[in-house]
Amino acid sequence: MKNEFKIADIKLAPEGHRRIDWAWKYMPVLKLISQKELKTQPLSGIVVGTCLHLEAKTACLLKVLRSLGATVVTAGSNPLSTQDSICAALVEGGIHVFSKHGMSANEYTENIREMLKWNPQVIIDDGGDVVSMIIEERRDLIPSILGGCEETTTGIKRLRAMDSEGVLPFPMLAVNDAQSKQLFDNRYGTGQSVWDAILRTTNLIVAGKIVVIAGYGWCGKGVSSRASGLGARVVVVEVNSHRAIEALMDGFSVMNMEEASKIGDVFISVTGNTKVIRKEHFLNMKDGVLLANAGHFDVEVYIPDLKEISKEVVESRDNIETYILEDGRNLHLLGEGRLVNLAAGDGHPVEIMDLSFAMQLLSTIFITQNKLTPGLHSVPEKLDKNIADLKLESLGIKIEILTPEQVEYLASWRE
Ligand code: ADE
Repeated sequence: MKNEFKIADIKLAPEGHRRIDWAWKYMPVLKLISQKELKTQPLSGIVVGTCLHLEAKTACLLKVLRSLGATVVTAGSNPLSTQDSICAALVEGGIHVFSKHGMSANEYTENIREMLKWNPQVIIDDGGDVVSMIIEERRDLIPSILGGCEETTTGIKRLRAMDSEGVLPFPMLAVNDAQSKQLFDNRYGTGQSVWDAILRTTNLIVAGKIVVIAGYGWCGKGVSSRASGLGARVVVVEVNSHRAIEALMDGFSVMNMEEASKIGDVFISVTGNTKVIRKEHFLNMKDGVLLANAGHFDVEVYIPDLKEISKEVVESRDNIETYILEDGRNLHLLGEGRLVNLAAGDGHPVEIMDLSFAMQLLSTIFITQNKLTPGLHSVPEKLDKNIADLKLESLGIKIEILTPEQVEYLASWRE
């Protein structure tokens, strides 16, 4: 097939290349792997279909996949995270791109359909939409699919549900669950990028504010810790008893959303669930609060309820819609309630995505070289450790190595 694409404007490519070049300077792990694999061209003849946040770091992954021999076709995994300059640069780099910033829900789905027309053998998904579409609409593709990998918590939740219903038709690697992803991307990546987006969007102070964070998984932990570092008083809302106690012992207040909604200044939902902040909570809120979602889908801060109780919506700043309630209170919604770090920012820091995308790359190669059974699989431990070792190597850090005597001591029970 010739280089087909559907993007906003190919003339934006120079800015895209500039952004990609910047990111590439800070992605040593991806670079090390790509240099090592370049000679053998392990992805030669493979069509890789992806649905990812099309920003600079993602572009680095896609370019590496192509440099290792793959035909790369991509859709964007969120209308607001797609950066048009990046799409243009990718097209110039020979990658087939179907996405544009601000696309409608219909265009979004159509773009995934376009990507699937290329009969991908490996899928790199972020949120599970590609796999769902294959199961629901394109079962004809299943026999030629070797497998895929999933980037994010929400996608894993959906794949797990498919797997337990017995409908996941090919192997998928749970990249999200690997140590090299969870510990860094989910915690420090989300922790920094959520605040980066909120700060640059609002230009407001965090110190002294009450920040309510719903969800205390790795992402919620990161967002809470950085909120605290910025001087906020942090309130955690949790449904899991152990996590609630963990939040308490980390020094945060814990309460339910009913109570928190009355006192919070900033609300951030990071749960992966739906309707976490809803009508009954909005009605309790103080004038001027900020509402943000940091979960994959725009269902956590429940916008239909917000619309129902508002008499007017105005755009107060770029990426801030102010919902004006009947009694005149203002509730400010950031990034249309889509994941704030990508809708109103550039996503996670570069060095963090270096690790996550290095994991996607090794997982992609692994899938093409190993026959796995259909279903959800963990990323092999060896591969996960390899990423951490390469990161340390890139930093010039040597860690301790157990002596033979220590290995023996750890394995014995006599002494
Ligand atoms: N940049 C590209 N993909 C991302 C993701 N899943 N989360 C945060 N930043 C990203």
